[in-house]
Amino acid sequence: MCCDAARKSRAVSFTAIIVAAGRGERAGADVPKQVKLLRGRPVIQWSVAAMAGAGASEIVVAASEETLPHVRDLLTPWPVRLVIGGETRSASVRAALAGATAEYVLVHDAARPGLKRAMVDRLLATVRAGALGAAPALPQADMLYRTDAADRITSEVERTGLMQVQTPQAFRTSALKEAYAAAGSERGFPDDISVLRANGVEAVLISGDRALAKITYREDFEVLERVLGGVTCVGSGFDAHRFGQGDHVMLCGVRIAHDRGLQGHSDADAGWHALVDAILGALGEGDIGAHFPPSEPQWSGVASEVFLRHAALLAEKAGARIVHVDITLICERPKFGPHRDAMRARTAEILNLPIEHVGIKATTTERMGFTGREEGIAAQAVATLNCLS
Ligand code: CTP
Ligand code: MG
Repeated sequence: MCCDAARKSRAVSFTAIIVAAGRGERAGADVPKQVKLLRGRPVIQWSVAAMAGAGASEIVVAASEETLPHVRDLLTPWPVRLVIGGETRSASVRAALAGATAEYVLVHDAARPGLKRAMVDRLLATVRAGALGAAPALPQADMLYRTDAADRITSEVERTGLMQVQTPQAFRTSALKEAYAAAGSERGFPDDISVLRANGVEAVLISGDRALAKITYREDFEVLERVLGGVTCVGSGFDAHRFGQGDHVMLCGVRIAHDRGLQGHSDADAGWHALVDAILGALGEGDIGAHFPPSEPQWSGVASEVFLRHAALLAEKAGARIVHVDITLICERPKFGPHRDAMRARTAEILNLPIEHVGIKATTTERMGFTGREEGIAAQAVATLNCLS
């Protein structure tokens, strides 16, 4: 679901704050961990796409002054407000919280890319039921030892009753603002539940998710690459256009000379129309007619590239990656063989795919049916997407 649709479907309004102003020193990379790639997409995009998909009414991202232009570029598909973070995590949250307007707020580390919509729903349900603060947490599973500066064990720590607390942490916005105001800006806090508690307000822990592990050290990237496999979504599409007068047809973005043209509201590119429907299908985003109604004059004669770019942008916003597409064109004439590679190249360019991941095939119906009688051209398409789970 795109963010607008997700927002409309949700009764509760919440601000999503994503803190991304840290330096990532322990991860030891040349760039901060939140802009590094994880499964082919910058870490920061994972959380922003998840919050948008979960229906956030506003998304505020705190970035450092140096990385802000780069972060802004990475987040262009989403309506995000960027603020400059501070020296500590809590200073970054404070900067983002100042303009938060929704009734509830979720504060999340950019360094935790494995956020699922179900977690947002559970946190919101907890604060709506009356808790002033709520966070996901997992019981401490490993043995704990206290050590000295030389990593020598000095004592055992009883782990019963110890919980590892994750983000997002959810709050009634007024309660978190009050807690930050009371805390003063000198002291740094490790998370936001601790700011709330310092103001004498208790929070609720709900069961956490291992996929929400934080990227802290270099090797955490490898672990999360494996954990965040996503789900494979496959969409299919079909389209047909009738022949009329003309001297060419447009198919998969390529102009092919022919003794007839294709009729349609746009440029009648049946191949790309089928493909757009396949992508929309994989995203659960309805069909091409819902996004570009034929009744609206601005789509008259428009190049179908506009539709395809729109579908690709919706996929990006949803945190989905188009991994493969396959189109079958059905007609007796014209012959597509000489144009196949140009069609694949155009499609690959727009979808930012390697050309090997674009299939284009042609077939006839042995002179049967409407394509056999050369009344028009039909196309079907399949799109395979890797979607957030
Ligand atoms: N963060 C922030 N502002 C800071 C410090 C941290 O917004 N001044 C954010 C980080 O970008 C991260 C989250 O808070 O998304 C959790 O912090 P942490 O894992 O400690 O990240 P870094 O501070 O970037 O890493 P390190 O401590 O290793 O330098
Ligand atoms: Mg830090």
